[in-house]
Amino acid sequence: MASAASSTAPRVGDGAVKGVAPLRAGQGTSFVLRRLHSLSGIVPVGAFLAEHILVSNSTAIGGPDAYARQVSFLANLPLVFFLELFGIWLPIAFHALYGFYIWYRGEGNTIAYPWTGNWMYTAQRWTGGVAFAYIVWHTWTMRFSGIDLHAYPNASFGKVQAEVLHTSLFLFYVAGLVAASWHLAYGIWLFSAKWGIVSGERARKRFLVLCLAFFFVLTGAGLASLTSFRSHPQQPMEPGTVVINNRQVTESR
Ligand code: HEM
Repeated sequence: MASAASSTAPRVGDGAVKGVAPLRAGQGTSFVLRRLHSLSGIVPVGAFLAEHILVSNSTAIGGPDAYARQVSFLANLPLVFFLELFGIWLPIAFHALYGFYIWYRGEGNTIAYPWTGNWMYTAQRWTGGVAFAYIVWHTWTMRFSGIDLHAYPNASFGKVQAEVLHTSLFLFYVAGLVAASWHLAYGIWLFSAKWGIVSGERARKRFLVLCLAFFFVLTGAGLASLTSFRSHPQQPMEPGTVVINNRQVTESR
């Protein structure tokens, strides 16, 4: 006999996508937070991640000069600190903290999440956790410690190299990249299911293939950038220096 709680679980045919709980009104105040959490995963957090991997970091494939130009462009955006604060840091903090709360609640309340047995469900949580560990460490080391790359963008290639040339840190970068790429790619599929953007069994399956392809594109682009950092000789990181034709010279500012 179905319990009262399980009778509220979504089923195929009642507008839900099989195995994915839709976001519905009337579920208390958490409905708005769940919607905000879901949306923030796409905009701005997902959009930022895609830009960060596919555009900004891919310029490293063109070498130190191309990378420095991109970092300089980003660092000189108007009101850059507020763009970072409201466009990246606060949305990631909200998505991550509420994500951990959903994870914690889901474990103790499996009836509300009928797809907990699904390994995709588990992977979405663990990839979020690994991405979180990586993002906190990466933001701290690249943005808030060591040489300030907004003031000295020419040091950026060397600063990344100083980390990824260590095998253990390189593997941490790879783990962060793969986890974040999977989390976003499958997250786009989840988002489309929950918001009713892609409906119907066939369309849903096809879209899953597209999302999987996006995962490989993100991971491939990220690995190509990492390979570029590892294949160049270590560039200098001292403020005011730049490498021209493999020689370190004083930068004219
Ligand atoms: C790399 C940065 C991140 C991006 C781009 C991102 C993006 C997304 C997207 C697009 C979704 C699907 C939205 C939906 O379920 O409707 C999602 C879901 C989720 N995210 Fe993230 N996320 C990130 C980081 C994190 C972190 C650090 C956590 C912390 C654990 C997290 C936890 C979750 C959870 C638990 C879900 C599933 C929610 C559910 O099943 O209802 N995410 N994320």
